[in-house]
Amino acid sequence: MKRKSIIITAILFTGILFVIACGNENSGKESTDQKADAPKEDASAQTEVHGTQIKEGDVKLGNPLDKKMIAEGQATYDMKCQSCHKLTDEKVVGPGWKDVTKRRTPVWIMNMITNVEMMLETDPEAQKLLEQCLVRMPNQNISTENARALVEFMRSNDGEK
Ligand code: HEC
Repeated sequence: MKRKSIIITAILFTGILFVIACGNENSGKESTDQKADAPKEDASAQTEVHGTQIKEGDVKLGNPLDKKMIAEGQATYDMKCQSCHKLTDEKVVGPGWKDVTKRRTPVWIMNMITNVEMMLETDPEAQKLLEQCLVRMPNQNISTENARALVEFMRSNDGEK
């Protein structure tokens, strides 16, 4: 008799624990969901930079290359682009950058860097790349000046002096 009641108590207890655990899991989920939503809204309100569209004539290339801009572009590349782009023609997540300054205009490249959403929605060449890569390049919150420096770094990578 005694043993039976212990077993029953044990079963009931596990049952209750199970219910509590499920309850906790659910409420935990809700609160993390809420947490996940909150910063997202904040982030898009504060930090997402939708650069103004860069137009033909806004960008002037100089010769010889500007060493300071190359260094600035390289620093940004190391930090924010390297994980997806190689400097050779090898594709990682995105296309390799070798000869990118020969396939694209500086304005196109800079819009791709500062306005990637717009480019993927409206530009046929960007859309072709998306079809090949299957990943949308994320907006990296790069300023226009920084994007210009990246172009200088790409020109240098393509052998310009
Ligand atoms: C998470 C991966 C990822 C990161 C990080 C990333 N890109 Fe991209 N990039 C892509 C993909 C993927 C494409 C191809 C277009 C697409 O699918 O959205 C692309 C395309 C490009 C192109 C066009 C290349 C060509 O051959 O015409 C340029 C230029 C470019 N990215 C610049 C940058 C710069 C500059 C940075 C860093 C500030 C950067 N990307 C960071 C994934 C990335």
